[in-house]
Amino acid sequence: QYPPLKRAHKVQICPKRCVCQVLNPNLATLCDKKGLLFVPPNIDRHTVEMRLGDNFVTSIKRKDFANMTKLVDLTLSRNTIGTIAPHAFKDLENLRALHLDSNRLTRITNDTFSGMSKLHHLILNNNQLTHIHIGAFNDLTALEELDLSYNNLESAPWVAIQRMSNLHTLNLDHNMLSYIPEGTFSGLQKLKRLDVTSNKLQKLPPDPIFQRAGVLATSGIMGPSSFALSFGGNPLRCNCELLWLRRLRREDDLETCASPQHLAGRYFWTVSEEEFLCEPPLITRHSQELQALEGQSVTLRCKARGDPDPIIHWIAPDGRLMSNSSRAMVHTDGTLDILISTVKDSGSFTCVASNPAGEAQQTVDLVITKLPHITNNTVSEQEPDPGSSDIATIMLNQENQNRMSVLSCRPMGR
Ligand SMILES: *[C@@H]1O[C@H](CO)[C@@H](O)[C@H](O)[C@H]1NC(C)=O
Ligand SMILES: *[C@@H]1O[C@H](CO)[C@@H](O)[C@H](O)[C@H]1NC(C)=O
Ligand SMILES: *[C@@H]1O[C@H](CO)[C@@H](O)[C@H](O)[C@H]1NC(C)=O
Ligand SMILES: *[C@@H]1O[C@H](CO)[C@@H](O)[C@H](O)[C@H]1NC(C)=O
Repeated sequence: QYPPLKRAHKVQICPKRCVCQVLNPNLATLCDKKGLLFVPPNIDRHTVEMRLGDNFVTSIKRKDFANMTKLVDLTLSRNTIGTIAPHAFKDLENLRALHLDSNRLTRITNDTFSGMSKLHHLILNNNQLTHIHIGAFNDLTALEELDLSYNNLESAPWVAIQRMSNLHTLNLDHNMLSYIPEGTFSGLQKLKRLDVTSNKLQKLPPDPIFQRAGVLATSGIMGPSSFALSFGGNPLRCNCELLWLRRLRREDDLETCASPQHLAGRYFWTVSEEEFLCEPPLITRHSQELQALEGQSVTLRCKARGDPDPIIHWIAPDGRLMSNSSRAMVHTDGTLDILISTVKDSGSFTCVASNPAGEAQQTVDLVITKLPHITNNTVSEQEPDPGSSDIATIMLNQENQNRMSVLSCRPMGR
């Protein structure tokens, strides 16, 4: 039935204790459960399938898989791998599946999986991952399955995940994710299974992909158009931001609301749509009129409540939105620090509190008193341009003045 074995490549090397099979004509090197402490150096470089599961390998070195361009399937599950040298998988240009589950990895860097553009399955569950560099998955554009479950991740490389258009399974469950950016799943048209169970999510980003299959089934048979979404075990905030999710038709399940307080503990699917409410912002405290001398720092305060928590912006007297700069600092708690005030800052600042339910505003009046400019007789008085509110310009003026004083003090001639 099988064509006669081609003997173009004869198996000559097989690491001690391992089993090497020529599977017509592919070569498999099988080293599961051999008590290995490191990757054996003498693996046949023509190996197509390499199994090293259930050993005691602690690190992957650059040379371990060098030149193994034919490798398609690599299993390193259930070892004690804590470090992977940069570019250790660089030569594996045909690798389709990489199993690294149940190891001791704590971080993935940009150069761990760079160039692995043919990888379809990346299995990293049950490690101790706390950090994945933002660019670590940039080359993994062919990925169909990504398993990051049972780690300690507070974030994931969302932008790279967004571009994995072939992804059908994404397991992010049992991590510490508290936020998933909107749009993360929009391009994942082939996604069949998304598991975000047991994280710290208060909400999920609304996405048309969740509507695609109509009925969401969490278990049982997967129809051709069904989509399995699991999100139980999260501290869901059942307000207007989750109404879209409540509106999906779905088999009843056991997700519960954690907040707001009056809904805490209720089953998500038994809370009526009318109860998914937000509260528009209300400004509870803010600075009254403030006075300062030119050059001093001033702090403007504004506090608001609402559901969800409002975001606070400040608008300057000239109508511009305040943002962090060398001159001002906008803090997330609603405080605006003007580090060095100028006369031009005088006027009404507006504190704007907003959330999906609405907006609220208050003004804070600021009066900056101009300083008298004392003249030193060596330098003729130069009024600083009152129109300049730019700290850089002011410092430059001061510097120029200093330099001018220095110049004028220097003895003339010899
Ligand atoms: C990989 O190939 C290069 C060039 O042929 C050779 O110098 C090197 O020793 C090889 N490394 C291994 C681990 O086989
Ligand atoms: C990783 O790559 C991204 C770009 O893809 C870059 O922004 C980031 O700084 C890199 N991180 C490190 C630690 O090199
Ligand atoms: C401005 O800087 C402060 C302090 O570094 C930071 O807490 C805040 O988030 C920044 N604000 C914005 C809008 O980036
Ligand atoms: C004027 O000069 C004196 C001494 O030369 C110096 O101490 C003082 O700071 C100067 N004042 C101004 C406003 O530059």
